[in-house]
Amino acid sequence: MGLKVGVPKETYPGERRVALVPALVPQLKGAGVEAVLVEQGAGAEAGFPDSAYAEQGARVVESRQEVFEGADVVLQVRTPGANPERGREDLELLRPGQVVIGFLEPLTALDAVKALAERWVTAFALELMPRITRAQSMDALSSQATVAGYKAVLLAAEALPKMFPMMMTAAGTITPAHVFVVGAGVAGLQAIATARKLGAVVQAYDIRPETKEQVESLGAKFVELGLETEEARAEGGYAREMGEEFYKKQREMMRRVVAESDVVITTAAVPGKRAPVLITEEMVKGMAPGSVIVDVAAERGGNCELTKPGETVTVHGVTIIGAVNLPATVPYHASQMYARNVTTFLLGMLKDGELKLDLDDPIVRDTLVTRDGEVVHPRVRERLGLPPAVGVGAVAEAETGTEGGEG
Ligand code: NAI
Repeated sequence: MGLKVGVPKETYPGERRVALVPALVPQLKGAGVEAVLVEQGAGAEAGFPDSAYAEQGARVVESRQEVFEGADVVLQVRTPGANPERGREDLELLRPGQVVIGFLEPLTALDAVKALAERWVTAFALELMPRITRAQSMDALSSQATVAGYKAVLLAAEALPKMFPMMMTAAGTITPAHVFVVGAGVAGLQAIATARKLGAVVQAYDIRPETKEQVESLGAKFVELGLETEEARAEGGYAREMGEEFYKKQREMMRRVVAESDVVITTAAVPGKRAPVLITEEMVKGMAPGSVIVDVAAERGGNCELTKPGETVTVHGVTIIGAVNLPATVPYHASQMYARNVTTFLLGMLKDGELKLDLDDPIVRDTLVTRDGEVVHPRVRERLGLPPAVGVGAVAEAETGTEGGEG
């Protein structure tokens, strides 16, 4: 019996993405996947109707239960860890040896991680994808951050009572909007590019010094605060958490730039940590009325002290948008990119139509969170207060998921 892949409809409130798009079904089948089971309506909100999946050779099934019962591998955007309420229903449907791949929030959704281990589910968290060249095409955090950065600028443009581009018209000259992007990672760089395309004058800042060149290559000005430092660079190109003293200094240095900006887009984050507070109420007070802050870090607590995640508030005349789940608001392309990431990851583990977990491969090892009734990921175990796993991870190669395979 060949491997079966299941794609349930996403159930997180407001989630419009889908983990697999129709165009990728033939690739899976070409790699020996026997069947792709798609829950009815799974792609509807992203612009992928059931008929499109069927045309590409997927089997559209009526109930969620059928997907979970029939699939060896379940592909989701939000696995139970990233879907706090409705995800519990999925936990009930999962069975021992079944593989789940998607966002899992493995370092914070510890109850869900434990529940997956208790059910003997083999769970992969795409957030833990190593940042190595070979894994770039599987890096779902990056693909979705690209979408978020783009959309953040559109939200800002919509909320701002001004236009972005400079215009010389018979009715006078319009000066361009000034945009300040804080955090020039994947989302930040896309925000810079998008704001530039709309004609804004853009400045940006990041604590990692190598971002200066990237910012400038997009036609924006890098704000020199004299604080950027090699020490800010952690493994995989991510930022390290700096002390409160550092953030205090950073806020002081940024005050003037913030005050002069029409739009501030904040994307500063440190993996597994609360986002640093970089914009205080005092700084918001210093902005002109009508200015806009889009806090892309809202889900992680926010870079602005006044941010309310999921809400738009106006304080001291400034509109503060607590942007959450932005990729879900551009579901067609966000799904297309996510599906490419997750499919490439899955195909990498398929050998002759069967799933083979090669734990010598950092892509497999680093993303694997639970297996054989245990939490196996070292960083997740640490968060749970568990001692380092003995033997787990030392297994060079093993099979899982398919019927008859030994877990
Ligand atoms: P992220 O979402 O964790 O953080 C966003 C940005 O916030 C980062 O650039 C970080 O340096 C910045 N930041 C943190 N604290 C800050 C502070 N106090 N002030 C200003 N900025 C602050 O990171 P993201 O965007 O997912 O990735 C960061 C970098 O990783 C990328 O720009 C890239 O260089 C690298 N990367 C490498 C990949 C690979 O080699 N396969 C794939 C994707 C990213």
